[in-house]
Amino acid sequence: MSKTAILQVNGEKYEFPLIVGTENEVAIDISNLRNATNGVITIDPGYKNTGSCESAITFLDGEKGILRYRGYSIEELAEKADFLEVAYLLIFGELPTKEQNDKFHNDIKAQSIVDEDIKKIVEAFPRTAHPMGVISSLTSALTAFNPSSVNVKSEEDMYKAIVKIMGKFPVLVAWTYRKKLGLPLDYGDDSLGYVENILKMMFRQPNACYIQNGVLIDALDKLLILHADHEQNCSTSTVRIVGSSHAGLFASLSAGISALWGPLHGGANQAVLEMLEAIKADDGDTKKYMVKAKDKEDPFRLMGFGHRVYKNFDPRAKIIKKAADEVLSNLGIEDPILDIAKGLEKEALEDPYFVDRKLYPNVDFYSGIIYRGMGIPTEMFTVMFALGRLPGWIAQWREMRLNNEPIGRPRQIYTGETERPFVSLVNR
Ligand code: SDX
Repeated sequence: MSKTAILQVNGEKYEFPLIVGTENEVAIDISNLRNATNGVITIDPGYKNTGSCESAITFLDGEKGILRYRGYSIEELAEKADFLEVAYLLIFGELPTKEQNDKFHNDIKAQSIVDEDIKKIVEAFPRTAHPMGVISSLTSALTAFNPSSVNVKSEEDMYKAIVKIMGKFPVLVAWTYRKKLGLPLDYGDDSLGYVENILKMMFRQPNACYIQNGVLIDALDKLLILHADHEQNCSTSTVRIVGSSHAGLFASLSAGISALWGPLHGGANQAVLEMLEAIKADDGDTKKYMVKAKDKEDPFRLMGFGHRVYKNFDPRAKIIKKAADEVLSNLGIEDPILDIAKGLEKEALEDPYFVDRKLYPNVDFYSGIIYRGMGIPTEMFTVMFALGRLPGWIAQWREMRLNNEPIGRPRQIYTGETERPFVSLVNR
């Protein structure tokens, strides 16, 4: 295969090197394009055809529906690993030995106390505040309580920042949830596993002991693994570009949380449940919503369907759909919403509009049904997505800084007014 690409502009030919990845993906390296062509650039709204970086963390094959973290398939990790192992794998590149895993967990526990003054910030929010706005603010506030930004050249400094956010973020998630319910903002129990402790912090009632439920532990562990990373999606690209200015890790993560909030991205899991509830209230009239989804005049989209990369089934959606059945039946829950979701999926997968555009269920289509079955309110679904995505964001931010990537600063094509003389107010 040729090692270069030839571009012809205004009769001139220019040659650019090709970069080939370990999975044989090919990119044209245009880093010298503007210099070589005296100012010509490329443009690609939404970066549908543009790579922002080389990365060794996560591999997606959208046509084949493949997702691997550091070479391990998502199916194997979801089945055989736990969330903390996967977090370690994403961040440090290898599955931890037992000793490494225990040390990682102990170091995280040692960092899982949050400054009491942060409770004053939580208390200042109205109970009606959307949890994504709260958790994004609290993550940014961590910077105020942990001012020293990360010296990425120091492995020790970087490690400290990683275990600090892995320890404090679940507490902030639990406090964000409990604030809405008017429950005391306290801690779980560090003698528990990472996921067990999250469940206890979120759901423990002040006047009762919290009884762990193995079904909930497995379900949350699996959901967090499935959400842990997804290469250069919108929120991860946000974390990378904010970090590329050498802003701190916590500030970069806070920006990523805000990007995730959007209903076209992580906010879709909340929008899916709201859509399914609307269909249920409409006597289950899925056909009406299919018509709306296909009507170009109607802004409505079938939430939880379609993906920028997957033009086949999102492998995570397959796993979550199976888990939804298991979790609801293990919890003895009959949720008509699940049947509506399955009916809608069947209709869409047989509809030419969706088939022609290769629109399949994505990670958000079924995840909310499990969260709901676990007793998590709809507004918290995207916060749970952020909880899962945290190690992926950390891994991607660390890789970007260790690779000394330049500050992200795209160019543009100007389409505004050409030069014109100023007209004073009296003459306008
Ligand atoms: C996540 O990137 C990631 O990896 C994200 C994520 C992660 O783990 O980080 O996987 C998580 O964000 C999953 C996606 C969650 N969002 C939704 O479920 C919202 C609904 N989906 C769409 O808005 C849409 O599919 C996107 C945003 C996900 C992808 O949009 P693209 O790639 O920009 O595709 P597009 O908008 O150009 O759509 C192509 C065509 C259009 O029709 P035509 O103009 O060709 O006629 O497909 C149509 C779109 O109108 N289309 C849909 C649709 N999604 C795309 N039509 C109806 N319903 C939909 N859901």
